[in-house]
Amino acid sequence: MNRIHLALPLALAVLPGAIFAAPMDDPHLAIRPLSAAETARRDEVLAAAGAGAALSFERSPGGAATVPRAPGEAALRAPSANMPAERKLDFELGKAIFDKLWVAAPASTRASDGLGPLYNARACAACHIRDGRGRAPDDDGESETTSLLFRLGGEGGPDPVYGMQLQDRAAPGQVAEGRVSLTFEVRPVALADGTAVTLRAPRYALTDPGFGAFPADIGLSPRMAPPMTGLGLIEAIPSADIIALADPDDRNGDGISGRARMVASAEHGGELLGRFGLKAGVATVREQVARAFSADMGLSTPLFPAPWGDCTATEAACRAGPHGQEPDVRDGAEVDGQSLDLVTFYARNLAPPARDRSEDPQVQSGQALFHAIGCADCHRPAFVTAKLADRPEQSFQLIWPYSDFLLHDMGPELADSLPEPGAEAAEWRTPPLWSIGLAQSVDPAVGYLHDGRARSLIEAILWHGGEAQAARDRVIRLTKPDRDALIAFLESL
Ligand code: HEC
Ligand code: HEC
Repeated sequence: MNRIHLALPLALAVLPGAIFAAPMDDPHLAIRPLSAAETARRDEVLAAAGAGAALSFERSPGGAATVPRAPGEAALRAPSANMPAERKLDFELGKAIFDKLWVAAPASTRASDGLGPLYNARACAACHIRDGRGRAPDDDGESETTSLLFRLGGEGGPDPVYGMQLQDRAAPGQVAEGRVSLTFEVRPVALADGTAVTLRAPRYALTDPGFGAFPADIGLSPRMAPPMTGLGLIEAIPSADIIALADPDDRNGDGISGRARMVASAEHGGELLGRFGLKAGVATVREQVARAFSADMGLSTPLFPAPWGDCTATEAACRAGPHGQEPDVRDGAEVDGQSLDLVTFYARNLAPPARDRSEDPQVQSGQALFHAIGCADCHRPAFVTAKLADRPEQSFQLIWPYSDFLLHDMGPELADSLPEPGAEAAEWRTPPLWSIGLAQSVDPAVGYLHDGRARSLIEAILWHGGEAQAARDRVIRLTKPDRDALIAFLESL
């Protein structure tokens, strides 16, 4: 185990080798204590997983929530396999809202209006394609989807005129904020065995400003929609177990210094561990869903009640535009609390599919390499979720997300130009790797990494820099059979 270091003062008592969580650590979870036997069993399994042992449990990355592996467009759409029958209707209702195309107010379909005035897409499903990840822009920088969005701002936070995100669409009669033009610079990389891989480095430029010239030094952070897999299980990991992996000052000298990010929680107040979003900026699924309604679609919820979403006071026309909010209707918001909860339930329960060929010798040798060359130092194999009073699907499961959910410095090539108060430009949260082997069967044009620049798994690996530079350099030196085994392991996830 890594030693325990805390980046920020927390409501935790820290003793060497042990961490005692105050009950307020996870106010979003109704945690029940484990028995001594359960604790011992959990620690034993996690120690074996951390050492890289190929365990039979791993066939089911989501524990009892795991669904059968069925490659194809619907591979990531199934509900937790252990969901009690009486909860399935809520999943279906949440799915209908996730897939729904919203329209601008006022419209005859009052239950689906309120979109905008400024927005990025009309449906959650437009970006999280079939509950998977976004689509990579093609070599001309064009993308038929909208799954790539841009955060903007400067040192002091969101841009005073344009807000925290560039909305490139607007309701009728309104003006969109602008567009981003994208070109790629081609970068050949030679692997030790002579194989050539071509990387594409994206270059972004803001165009068509709707509310006055963009500041010359405006910071941009491109974000590609991540897959929706297993989010409720990730949410059910006790914060202390993630914080215990952090090593911000690299005390163990392995060159890897993951940092736990504490964020203000709009839902529960105070500071909680951030684990959602590409820079771990959000603590809970429900808050992330409400933020998406607000910033991506301009829809208010009881959690973020402004009907104009991310439209700033300077953007007067959009603040004055029509919206779908009336007092005493739908909790006074465009999306009522019940709908927010249904989408949250849906998002928590998109289940990880079973592993493919996990007993295949090639896959197992790739798994051994994954540990030997340092990938597992960040892409941590396994966790045990908390025992929960009210979430049977996520309660006390051995899960295999292959992430530590910490921020890592990934080097200048992957850096954006928008440092946030809690995350540097080059810092990204280790993404979970479960279901990554199904990504291309869900959408052949899928993109990897935070901005979708990588078109294949090997490209994604070759972009690793910073704390992951050493692991990436070891991949360059692998023989072809070893590299093929490493990729076969990733494809089996
Ligand atoms: C315009 C594209 C777009 C739309 C529309 C969109 N999302 Fe997202 N989603 C993203 C991006 C980009 C991120 C990463 C955000 C970040 O890094 O902060 C994300 C992150 C998330 C996450 C966190 C996933 C993780 O692994 O941490 C959830 C949950 C989510 N979105 C749910 C939704 C829901 C529900 C809706 C509809 C209400 C929605 N999204 C609409 C692009 C989109
Ligand atoms: C220092 C921590 C660290 C190490 C070591 C590391 N990774 Fe990563 N990995 C990350 C982070 C952070 C990202 C996201 C970077 C981004 O989006 O710009 C990532 C992204 C990925 C992705 C793309 C995931 C996606 O959803 O798009 C793959 C595949 C991957 N890593 C595999 C590997 C392999 C294989 C190794 C070992 C050779 C490795 N990683 C080593 C932290 C690490």
